[in-house]
Amino acid sequence: MAVRVGVLGATGAVGQRLIQLLDPHPSFEIAALTASEDSAGKTYRQAAKWRVDSPIPDDVAELTVSATDPDEVPEDIDLLFSSLPSSVGAAVEPDFCEAGYVVSSNSSNARMADDVPLVVPEVNADHLDLLEVQRDERGWDGALVKNPNCSTITFVPTLAALAEYGLESVHVATLQAVSGAGYDGVSSMEIIDNAIPHIGSEEDKLETESRKLLGDFDGAELTHNDVEVSASCNRIPTIDGHLENVWVETEEDLSPTKAAEEMEAYPSLDLRSSPDQLVHVFDAPDRPQPRMDRTIGDGMAIAAGGLQETPFGLQYNCLAHNTIRGAAGASVLNGELLLENGYL
Ligand SMILES: NC(=O)c1ccc[n+]([C@@H]2O[C@H](COP(=O)([O-])OP(=O)(O)OC[C@H]3O[C@@H](n4cnc5c(N)ncnc54)[C@H](OP(=O)(O)O)[C@@H]3O)[C@@H](O)[C@H]2O)c1
Repeated sequence: MAVRVGVLGATGAVGQRLIQLLDPHPSFEIAALTASEDSAGKTYRQAAKWRVDSPIPDDVAELTVSATDPDEVPEDIDLLFSSLPSSVGAAVEPDFCEAGYVVSSNSSNARMADDVPLVVPEVNADHLDLLEVQRDERGWDGALVKNPNCSTITFVPTLAALAEYGLESVHVATLQAVSGAGYDGVSSMEIIDNAIPHIGSEEDKLETESRKLLGDFDGAELTHNDVEVSASCNRIPTIDGHLENVWVETEEDLSPTKAAEEMEAYPSLDLRSSPDQLVHVFDAPDRPQPRMDRTIGDGMAIAAGGLQETPFGLQYNCLAHNTIRGAAGASVLNGELLLENGYL
């Protein structure tokens, strides 16, 4: 029988992607949708300005949107996917966990908390057991697990594939799509014919979340990886797909050919939303490109290319679909991992 799930922030850009990925899903059945007070009481069709490239599933369209409050969500829901603005997530996600719900969240609040697992299943599935520490410390029946920022997810799997060579330093420059800022995030007058060389607190997220993801969990405590990471984030006028230029210095020698082999061989998982192959490496130096390569593996794979030696270490480019692999798909994958590991 499918697990009954809800979506918090269901009307937003990520919420709509969540609904696209969850309906249909063999393990999950959407049974609750929440948004702001402005949307509460409306049917989903009335409340959501639907912008995803497939129709609203009929059964979801007629569900009534409720306010984002534990008292408004049925008790028989086992799992909530959260795509709330981070200020709202910070205020309400702990209330849901305290009320017994397991929350798989996209929002940036609490990602760096010591007892909150920040998980990309192919990279650090073992960190999920930090939930035992979380439940002990907070006394929650529920639980809170996070996926990282969309631009962090794009480059961390490639680093994980190279980690055995000893990561010393990483420099990353991003070219991020406008959908990463939400529908109302960047005005057309700002971004058309332009590029914006700074994105809020995004640099800090890449630098800190990557070290947490690549860290070690000993069953009680998480130690962050000590690799030095420096990020520069740029907004460009693409719709979907974050492209990143990465420079990596390793302790052991690592040729571009060997690095490409390691990336291609890096294992995916058997979860329903895992891509068959996690990292695809292009030989052509002008790939990956957002428009052509963001849907590889149904938007759940990472594309890489342009591997070369430079005076600053190994250099390459990587790309991921920011609202699928970088947001909604990442939360769904964490939900599948929670189910497989008996947390639901
Ligand atoms: N876009 C991306 O690529 C991406 C990637 C990774 C992570 N994220 C993160 O995911 C989250 C959602 O991003 P988004 O782009 O989907 O944002 P969005 O399009 O602005 O959607 C926000 C959602 O939250 C609801 N909401 C707003 N204020 C609320 C309140 N006070 N109480 C309850 N619900 C409220 C909105 O409902 P109404 O429609 O009723 O206003 C809507 O459903 C953010 O934390 C973002 O940082 C986004």
